[in-house]
Amino acid sequence: MVRQTRRRFLEDTLLAAAAMATTPAAQVWSAEGASTSANEKLGAAVIGVGGRGVSHLDALVSRPDTEVVCIVDCDERTGQQQADQVSQRQGRRPGVYRDMREAFDDPAVDIVSTATPNHWHALVSIWAMQAGKDVYVEKPVSHNVSEGQRIVEVARKYHRICQAGTQCRSMQGTIDAIEFIRSGKIGEVRLARGLCYKRRPSIGPRGIYEPPKEVSYDLWLGPAPLAPVTRPRFHYDWHWQWAYGNGDLGNQGAHQIDVARWALGIDRLSDRVMSYGGRFGYEDAGETANTQVVLHEFGDKTLVFEVRGLVTDDYQGARVGVIVYGTDGYVSLSSYAGGVAFDSDGKVRACVKITYTIFAKDEVRGCSSSRRERHVALGVVARVPRHSL
Ligand SMILES: NC(=O)c1ccc[n+]([C@@H]2O[C@H](COP(=O)([O-])OP(=O)(O)OC[C@H]3O[C@@H](n4cnc5c(N)ncnc54)[C@H](O)[C@@H]3O)[C@@H](O)[C@H]2O)c1
Repeated sequence: MVRQTRRRFLEDTLLAAAAMATTPAAQVWSAEGASTSANEKLGAAVIGVGGRGVSHLDALVSRPDTEVVCIVDCDERTGQQQADQVSQRQGRRPGVYRDMREAFDDPAVDIVSTATPNHWHALVSIWAMQAGKDVYVEKPVSHNVSEGQRIVEVARKYHRICQAGTQCRSMQGTIDAIEFIRSGKIGEVRLARGLCYKRRPSIGPRGIYEPPKEVSYDLWLGPAPLAPVTRPRFHYDWHWQWAYGNGDLGNQGAHQIDVARWALGIDRLSDRVMSYGGRFGYEDAGETANTQVVLHEFGDKTLVFEVRGLVTDDYQGARVGVIVYGTDGYVSLSSYAGGVAFDSDGKVRACVKITYTIFAKDEVRGCSSSRRERHVALGVVARVPRHSL
């Protein structure tokens, strides 16, 4: 009973977190059907409560069947600040730890929801499952492919759930678009193109910088090599240094590569891959490419992924999106929530999305619960796609 509830719970809750934090518009999770019995409350630990982890807290605190029992962040100030916020909303202050192993030892913790930097993802997930917890781990699932495979092995070995933060898989507009493509409406599909056209300015000069005094730097580094901080802004900008991040290929791109592969009907690694690019336009502390093309070959199907971090125009109506090409037309998924199908001559053929309601993220947060439920009941994800050809 509890196991089943947990699976459903992980799906619902983190989809909400995902939608609230990163989509241009929001989808809220439904509390409908959620347990309200105190003895069925799930104890949650949220590990890494910087930019993204706050959305995890937001989603967990909103549920009547969940209690955030502890927060872990190796930045003491961040952890305490978020515990204050949670305590106001939840009525009980969660414990605050710097070291995640304390959360794993806590029997009150049933589930671990984690948004640390990428180099920690595999270890957090594996340790948590070894301690008997179920896990939601942010995308990219791991810092490299091998680590991801170890997570799968551990989940199977310990019979735990480990769900990944590729939330587009749960977004109705994307699901509808994939069904539209799979049903043959644009003919035979052999090419999908993922785009991350997202302006990324310089992160400042490379140098030797002190980590913030509130941060336990050895815990932050964890499995990464012991090395000084070489970027001016400590948090977030690790995305652009190889020891911790994956550039936009593994950051934003994790979502679009996932959808592109899904659209092609592929669920394996590619047979061959080729990539070229570099970090152009400025010299800074970053190492990952801001301009990159990757070609994955899967037999007779191809996935092309492109990162453009400098100023650029849209491509076929999308900037951060996926374009799927068939023999009779193409679909441009310009948001997480859906897109538009075009004939081969570029004429609009269908809006691949179920319901439109336009509201801003703040409106969703501010809605009364009945209004929220109504939106959820409609399966609404908000945003009209652009189709500027
Ligand atoms: N699914 C999505 O749409 C989505 C959106 C944004 C970010 N993310 C993912 O979330 C993750 C975090 O990104 P972010 O932008 O919040 O980064 P961030 O740097 O803002 O926050 C990371 C937090 O983790 C903490 N931390 C680092 N090591 C830790 C450890 N060992 N134990 C506990 N806390 C630790 C840091 O102190 C910081 O507070 C990334 O993997 C990113 O890819 C996913």
